[in-house]
Amino acid sequence: MDADALLNPERRMLRVMQEKSGHDWTLAEILSSCEWIDQAIAVGAGHGLSNIGYVSTTETSSAIVRLADEGQKAKENGLLEARIWKWISDSETPSMADLQSHFERHEAGPGVGLLKRLGVQLEGGVFVAANPSAVDMGIQARTAFIQSLPAASEALDVNLMEHFKSRRGLIESVISTTRTWSLTPQGQSVSAEALVEKQSISEITSELLQSDAWKDADYRPFDVTLESATPRTGRSHPMQALIERVRSIFLEMGFSELVDDYVQTAGWNMDALFIPQDHPAREMQDTFYLEDPKSIELPKHLTDAWGAIHEHGGDTGSVGWGGKFSAETSEKGLLRTHTTVNTIQYLAAHPKDACRVFSVDRVFRKEAIDRTHLPEFHQIEGIIMEEGANLQMLVATLKTFYAKMGYPEVRVRPAYFPYTEPSLEIEVKWRGKWLELGGAGIFRPEVTEPLGISTPVLAWGMGLERLAMLVLGLDDIRQLYISDLEWLRNQPIL
Ligand code: PHE
Repeated sequence: MDADALLNPERRMLRVMQEKSGHDWTLAEILSSCEWIDQAIAVGAGHGLSNIGYVSTTETSSAIVRLADEGQKAKENGLLEARIWKWISDSETPSMADLQSHFERHEAGPGVGLLKRLGVQLEGGVFVAANPSAVDMGIQARTAFIQSLPAASEALDVNLMEHFKSRRGLIESVISTTRTWSLTPQGQSVSAEALVEKQSISEITSELLQSDAWKDADYRPFDVTLESATPRTGRSHPMQALIERVRSIFLEMGFSELVDDYVQTAGWNMDALFIPQDHPAREMQDTFYLEDPKSIELPKHLTDAWGAIHEHGGDTGSVGWGGKFSAETSEKGLLRTHTTVNTIQYLAAHPKDACRVFSVDRVFRKEAIDRTHLPEFHQIEGIIMEEGANLQMLVATLKTFYAKMGYPEVRVRPAYFPYTEPSLEIEVKWRGKWLELGGAGIFRPEVTEPLGISTPVLAWGMGLERLAMLVLGLDDIRQLYISDLEWLRNQPIL
């Protein structure tokens, strides 16, 4: 360790200690020799010097018994038993009735108890003592005990200490630590020049920067490992911060952002995606259908095209789902259940232009709220439409995204969605376990052909709250939305 890094108080303390090398220095001696008033400076400098190995510190802890609030009053005004005993000794016929008019009720009751235990009795309503000098001596011993505090607990009479411990608020015991410091051979060998106190700069001001003085100035080092108060200022909610991060990653990867409405038709949310009209996920228990607008008109050419695909596959070579397609079902208003409803409409509007589009937005499903489910949550959606786009490119894109988020271990597994083929599930390794974060695939011809799209489209939809659970280390998704200020303040900056 280099003596140059010493702080000024450490330099001064070491210099002082070098004057008497074999000595064990007490706090008081250090304070007076260093001309300090503040103990914290001495203790801090001693701590610093012993960390570097220039001094060794010996700490001794001992229990000190001192007066508590009631004890302080007793020291000033006399113990309760002493005051009552004095009154008894001064009265001609000290009666119980008289006592109550001289002392308050909260003193009279306990006081009589204390005196009885010291040998005072009541005879016919009058206080008498068989051996008054024994009472005197007992009271004197107690008074002397109180007067002698504070004192080290070993030095005190055990019986009196037990007695006072049983009485409320008179005495208390505290642990006090005393330190002594002595020089080590390394501390002794530090040269006098190194111990000259330097003028060091702890604040960079504009005056300093405008002059040339900053060039040769000595700067006070900061110890960034020390505890400090956390500034409590306004900040983004961790969820918002995470959305910003996801956004900047996709923007950086060359994607454009898509923002669209929550209110959609069943046609775009499901039929366009070749989700059969009798699919269980379309039932009331999964989807929030709207009262207002109960239905939203769709162009006939769309419902006709979807109808043909669903009933017999249209011109795609698919056999469709069979059954009867209902345009009325298509026109039902709902809260979107996934953001794929928006990317598919973007494609329908730009069927010929290669694109990379993403969104991070809210979706709605009738889920019972629990540790991992909410009826409103967010999806990270994306598409790539491009000549030659293939499964490998899809997997590579998702891996790149998660690697940029800080999760380099990603794997995919086969899955099923009515609108993609092949379909896959994306999993990320977290704390040694694989966690499913979303679905992806290549849109089927039943989805792309009726919209006039002939280029391959890679698509994915991933849970944002799930990702937030990883990033923030949560085991309950609800934590994100309960506005627990203490928790919010302690979240990392993303
Ligand atoms: N929409 C699917 C979901 O909500 C995810 C997905 C999107 C799957 C795009 C494949 C392609 O879970």
